[in-house]
Amino acid sequence: MKVEKVNVGLVGLGMVCESHLKAYSTHPNAEVMAVCDLDAARSKEIAIKYGIPRTYTSYKQMLQDQEINTVDITTPTILHSQMALAAALAGKNILCEKPFCLTLTAGQEVCEAARSNGVALMVGESYIFMTSLKQARALIEAGEIGKPQQMRQRFGSWIDRPGVLETDRPVTDDHRGWRIDSKKAGGAGFPWMFDHCVHFFATAEYLMGARIEEVYALKSDIRWMKAAYHVDEGETHVYRPEDSGDIPIITWTYDDPACQGVWMRAETLNGKFDPMYGFSLSMIGDQGMIEVLGEGGRGLQWMGESTHLVLHRKDKKTRTFRFDEGEDDIWQSEVSYYSKAHQNQINELIDALISGRKPGYTGEDGMRDVKTTMAAICSAKEGLPVRVAEVTDIRFARIPETTA
Ligand SMILES: NC(=O)c1ccc[n+]([C@@H]2O[C@H](COP(=O)([O-])OP(=O)(O)OC[C@H]3O[C@@H](n4cnc5c(N)ncnc54)[C@H](O)[C@@H]3O)[C@@H](O)[C@H]2O)c1
Repeated sequence: MKVEKVNVGLVGLGMVCESHLKAYSTHPNAEVMAVCDLDAARSKEIAIKYGIPRTYTSYKQMLQDQEINTVDITTPTILHSQMALAAALAGKNILCEKPFCLTLTAGQEVCEAARSNGVALMVGESYIFMTSLKQARALIEAGEIGKPQQMRQRFGSWIDRPGVLETDRPVTDDHRGWRIDSKKAGGAGFPWMFDHCVHFFATAEYLMGARIEEVYALKSDIRWMKAAYHVDEGETHVYRPEDSGDIPIITWTYDDPACQGVWMRAETLNGKFDPMYGFSLSMIGDQGMIEVLGEGGRGLQWMGESTHLVLHRKDKKTRTFRFDEGEDDIWQSEVSYYSKAHQNQINELIDALISGRKPGYTGEDGMRDVKTTMAAICSAKEGLPVRVAEVTDIRFARIPETTA
């Protein structure tokens, strides 16, 4: 639904919400009219901080607010599709955080409701809005590495900025704790993978310009989720121990048979050391290669200099790029993800709504990356390569939740 000004109601005031709120507050054509959270004190605190006129503890009530034409959903994943569906039925445009849905059926229902109610539906796939990855894509499209053929994604540790994730808010089922519970975070025993793989697969298609066709994932029996949530046992952040499956390596092929990709985990939380921090990747073509930092990334060097993107070209001089866009809100990182990528993403939403065009990453895109994620988890459990087209909710649900 085309609008003259984007009037937002945002629901879910946890870790990611401020990246969205900051972005709206700096855009001349957007205003956050209301925020909603079950935690009334948190809503008040955020409303005061950002000068937001109204607060709600009921999402249903917020949807009746006539001044709001767009809903931003930053609640735990289990609520995404039901909240997005209610927003579509209430005639509101939607930005829904990733992962878009827990089942393909639920995602499809939201996409259809958005279409039949004439509202826009964007999923918050913020990786493809990172400045460094956008630059990598521009170089690939300009032919700088020739025909892209292989992507190697590497996952090193994300290191928190001291104090940022430590708040006085208790960790509960609704705030932060849900992430290690696959019933709320998705993933049938692999909640972390379900929460994050959508980013990795979205990036894999965004840069390769081809669709992922088949996925083969390796399962590890290392149990590490407790440590991931958050660093030191005994600290208040550790919500409760829960065994959780791990997938340290995923490989995939594309619908273009010349292309393939791999994601590899090497992070200290999982007991491995890697001096390249955060997410980074190499993209290899027949005429060159790009190395680039993503979320939480640091440690990329070229000729003794710290850099953010290196472009190696056959018979040409190597070029380097830096993206000094200010600090990341959450990570100790050289590139800005929580601040700048989210801002770029919100700008895309606002520009799409005002011009009446489709946003850069839609509900259908969100569903495709959820489906590829399901394929990876099915593959890890079944011990076989899985074709994305053959994944169904029934096949995914059939797999036992225990991963031992
Ligand atoms: N794109 C990204 O980079 C990125 C980063 C972090 C989180 N996320 C996604 O954003 C979503 C939220 O993550 P988070 O880390 O901010 O979560 P969080 O646990 O920190 O916060 C969730 C908030 O939702 C509120 N809430 C829960 N149920 C509610 C309800 N029924 N009505 C209103 N409020 C309710 C909770 O009180 C809490 O304040 C998740 O889906 C996550 O995957 C995306």
